Parts: sequence; C-alpha cells; structure tokens
Amino acid sequence: MINCKTKTICFTNNKGGSGKSTSCANLAYELSLAGKKVLLIDGDMQLNLSLSFFDEERVLDMAEQENNLYYAIRGKKDLKDYIVNTPYDNLDLIPSSTLMSQIEYELFTMLQREYVLKKCLKSIYESAAYDYILIDAPPTLGTWVINILCTSDYVIVPVEASPWGLFGLANMFDFLNGMNEMTEAKIMGVLITKVDERKNYYKQTREILESYENIHVFNSFIHVDSSIEWAQDSSVPVAVYKKNTRSTKEFHELAREVMNYGSR
Ligand SMILES: Nc1ncnc2c1ncn2[C@@H]1O[C@H](COP(=O)(O)OP(=O)(O)O)[C@@H](O)[C@H]1O
Ligand SMILES: [Mg+2]
Repeated sequence: MINCKTKTICFTNNKGGSGKSTSCANLAYELSLAGKKVLLIDGDMQLNLSLSFFDEERVLDMAEQENNLYYAIRGKKDLKDYIVNTPYDNLDLIPSSTLMSQIEYELFTMLQREYVLKKCLKSIYESAAYDYILIDAPPTLGTWVINILCTSDYVIVPVEASPWGLFGLANMFDFLNGMNEMTEAKIMGVLITKVDERKNYYKQTREILESYENIHVFNSFIHVDSSIEWAQDSSVPVAVYKKNTRSTKEFHELAREVMNYGSR
C-alpha cells in the first residue's frame, strides 16, 4: 500500500455479465453518499462504468479524445490529469476508451509492465485526495488485469447466482492466489448478484461459495431488479433512478459492509 488512507478495490471476474460494472458503479455511489471521496476507474473497453454516469454521446466523446485511460497508460502519464467530475458530489471518474482493446499490446514492451497503472496513480495516492479508488476490470485475466490487481488492496468478485456463474470460479481464485508474490491484493469478498427468487440458485450458490476455504462471502447480495437496467438506460445510479427500490437498499447495505471491513 502506498499510503494507508486511500483504499483501492477492484471488481474482477473473468466471466462477463456477472455484475462487475453494475456493482462497481452503485457501490461507488453509495460510498459517495456516505461522505467518502471516491475515484472510479473504467478499466474496460466496453465503457459500461462510464455509461453508468454519463450519456452515450459524452462517453463516446471522452473515448475519442485523448484524455482517457488508454492514452494515460500508453504514455505513462499522471492519471490526476485525466480525472472527470461526475454530476455527483465526492464522485470522480477516469474514463475508458474502446482502444483499451489494444492495451495488452501496448503493455507488452514496457518495463515492469505489471506496475504501469500503479505508477500512473502515484500522485493521486500521495495526495490522499480519495478515500476509495474503485476499478472496474474487463472479463479477462491478462497483463492489464494484473496491473489492476497490482495497484489494488482488495478484490471484490461479483458472482451471478446461476449454475454457470460458478463455473470457472475455482480457476480464478487460483489465479488470484498465484499473484501473491506480485500484489498484496486480497479478496475482500464474493458478492452474489442477480438473485432471482423464482429460481432456486441463491441458496445453492451461497453454500458452494461458503465451502471455499478462506473466501469471505458478503452477507449483502443483490436481487435481479429491472430498475437497475432502467437506471443504466438513463445513465444514473439506481438510487437516483428509484430511491426505494430493492437493489438500492441492497447496495446501501453492501456499502456499509465494505466501510466496516477491517474493523471486524
Ligand atoms: N441486479 C441486477 N438486476 C437486473 N439486471 C442486472 C443486475 N445486475 C446486472 N444486471 C444486468 O446484467 C448485465 C451484466 O451486468 P454487468 O454489471 O455489465 O456485468 P459485467 O460487468 O460483469 O459484465 C447488464 O446488462 C446489467 O444491466
Ligand atoms: Mg463490465
């Protein structure tokens, strides 16, 4: 850890559609409501995290300009100069670019290529301007995701409550454990997402996850909630779209668990 104030949490799961971007955006918003200063980093060329706060036109505009993550990483620039304010207090974002599809290639020839992101964040860490940095990772396990892990203190693994949601998860835990020598990042917890009460997978999913040794499963979990998709359609957090919807309360609870983590 570069300083003990800013906590960096990344959202990883090499399975797409598990709820990484949704959880990252809505947890960040709840943390900001709780008065925490939060910086989001959109690490995925799908731009979903950016689209959670800005409309498509603005996101594409940011992706096409040179003030996005791709150019910062490629040029080893100070990421402090790439921060964009969201419409919400305490919540900033570093936008992504579709060019992130080429980032593996760019990193390949760099010295200490696993630590480029961490170095680009150095002045932000030193300024201690943020309580949390939340990073949305793409559904891959290459050098770029290793960069994300190397600058993270904690990992949250969203898992969809479905039979295939668990498929391949053991491999991902092995991958994360295999990174022990490079990073101090530890798994803060597994977050069960997209729980559908009409199906019966929630109980089964939790039982299987809790059978893994040394893996914490968050008490909070997120139900399937159509408000989430409507909120994303309007580029706002679900709490802004509908204050009293079930998932809003669930993300609020999750934020409490995350803020209390370490004081247990
Ligand atoms: N709790 C939920 N209820 C309803 N839809 C959800 C929920 N969580 C995620 N989704 C939808 O599922 C899809 C995948 O979620 P996303 O967060 O993009 O996953 P990932 O980032 O892991 O690929 C998106 O279309 C999103 O709108
Ligand atoms: Mg995503």
